[in-house]
Amino acid sequence: MIEFINVTKEYSDTQALQNVSFHIDDGEFVFIIGHSGAGKTTLTKRLLREEKVTEGKILVDGIDVTELSARGIPYYRRKLGMVFQDFRLFRDKTAYENIACIMRAVGTPGAEIRRRVPALLRTVAMEDKQKHFPRELSGGEQQRVALARAIANNPDIIIADEPTGNIDPEMSIEIMNLLMKINQILGKTVIVVTHEMDLVERFGHRVITLDGGKLDSDINLESAVADFEDSENTGGENE
Ligand SMILES: Nc1ncnc2c1ncn2[C@@H]1O[C@H](COP(=O)(O)OP(=O)(O)OP(=O)(O)O)[C@@H](O)[C@H]1O
Ligand SMILES: [Mg+2]
Repeated sequence: MIEFINVTKEYSDTQALQNVSFHIDDGEFVFIIGHSGAGKTTLTKRLLREEKVTEGKILVDGIDVTELSARGIPYYRRKLGMVFQDFRLFRDKTAYENIACIMRAVGTPGAEIRRRVPALLRTVAMEDKQKHFPRELSGGEQQRVALARAIANNPDIIIADEPTGNIDPEMSIEIMNLLMKINQILGKTVIVVTHEMDLVERFGHRVITLDGGKLDSDINLESAVADFEDSENTGGENE
């Protein structure tokens, strides 16, 4: 479980997050939306513990992320799989090596890497292109490799910051379908930061909205739509 308790992040002249509190249960699929500058990336960076918060606490599976020691951070980060808008694949490594190298980094035995990397590439329909370098792949293909890499070390939580920002609408839907699959079949907690409201409407369950660093709303889209439809049905003129 992820818990933000009154999290505030101040930069010299900006309050990027102000008193933000929420919790996300294991296995949830959550969108985080908000205008440019609302604090979305600041929030994901806090979760990754790239920088410290100014005030407040972040708890992940009972670990106080705000109090982690320098030695504790790399272990903590193994809980998380990160997907970025600009993919961030290693440019001098093939699709296969992009995944294999991060498995090696956590001490995975060679035999397991040779078995698991092709399976991961198959999950994202990229098994044919395992020898391709990022420059030989389309944006959507690179993002699929990045997704496979994000789940390679079996993290509990996947965080995707604008994962569809650099790919076309059709491929965006495919990436979202993969993220859904990762949530529903593998049971991972998935957090997707996005601007794209059509994707939120299409795939949305829970939607947390940030505005000017503050938590503006936290709603369950399915029940919100159902409530709306109920009120339409019962409040009609013909009743
Ligand atoms: N390192 C930094 N130093 C100073 N201010 C920063 C820093 N990083 C972010 N900010 C400020 O914090 C606020 C929130 O930024 P953040 O990157 O979280 O926005 P965002 O919601 O991710 O926006 P976008 O949709 O454009 O990616 C912005 O006003 C930004 O200018
Ligand atoms: Mg951002």
